[in-house]
Amino acid sequence: MSTTQNGQVREMTVPAFVKRKRGGPPLVVLTAYDVPSATAAEAGGVDALLVGDSLGNVLLGEPSTLTVSLDQMIHHARAVGRVRRRALLIVDMPWMTYHLGPEDAVRNAARVIKETGADAVKLEGGRKRTSVIQAMLDAEIPVMGHIGLTPQSVLPMGGYRVQGRKADRAEALVADAVALTEAGVFSIVLEGIPGPLAARITETVEVPTIGIGAGVHCDGQVLVFHDLLGMSPVSPPKFVRCYAHILEAQTEAIRRWSEDVRSGSFPSDEETYR
Ligand code: KIV
Repeated sequence: MSTTQNGQVREMTVPAFVKRKRGGPPLVVLTAYDVPSATAAEAGGVDALLVGDSLGNVLLGEPSTLTVSLDQMIHHARAVGRVRRRALLIVDMPWMTYHLGPEDAVRNAARVIKETGADAVKLEGGRKRTSVIQAMLDAEIPVMGHIGLTPQSVLPMGGYRVQGRKADRAEALVADAVALTEAGVFSIVLEGIPGPLAARITETVEVPTIGIGAGVHCDGQVLVFHDLLGMSPVSPPKFVRCYAHILEAQTEAIRRWSEDVRSGSFPSDEETYR
């Protein structure tokens, strides 16, 4: 528990998050993109909110995350930052905001921190990102890594496929995780890799691994808000467990209200000002 300069009591800080590698229950991370999702996630007791660039897919209907801009990320993250109270707030750096060199990357990451109140940024990629990560850390910006099925690599990957199934690719991912840790990331997201490989990386690195489609042997789990709650119009991937069917519930509520309007039973006398 630590107190911020504006007097807020924050249970989850970057060091507190890292400490959970050495004890305590697995870390719970959920994406959030706006006030309703952040409020629900906080009330549900998550350890960290991730404003993921998956907002391009789940909110904006884009086929990939490649179209998401820094301004869009900041727009959504600022809303999440306004209602975040207790959880750690991590914001994704979108594609091409950290690929043009350390100076450009630090400038963009600093905008995220200054304009949203986030605690940290997340970026995708392994060994090739170490100079950018070191530059961000020199600027006092904590960085979360993300390897495996990295959605911003959809074009070279040729689609969204499980990564690290072949021995040489598995070794490369272990080397990436070690390089990210040596560069100073405080945590690494492992996405779409076989469970045994995620377990090996988790044993190898000293920072918490957060899995999504990477099996149970990670230090924590992350899911996309809309997948967890059954809010997506498309079937979720195999690794998702749906805990609610909100899209169905919403549709049914709207259908009933439409019926009531059409039949004249809405609004009633009680719902009318005198
Ligand atoms: O963008 C996102 O939501 C993510 C998580 C799925 C890890 O990066």
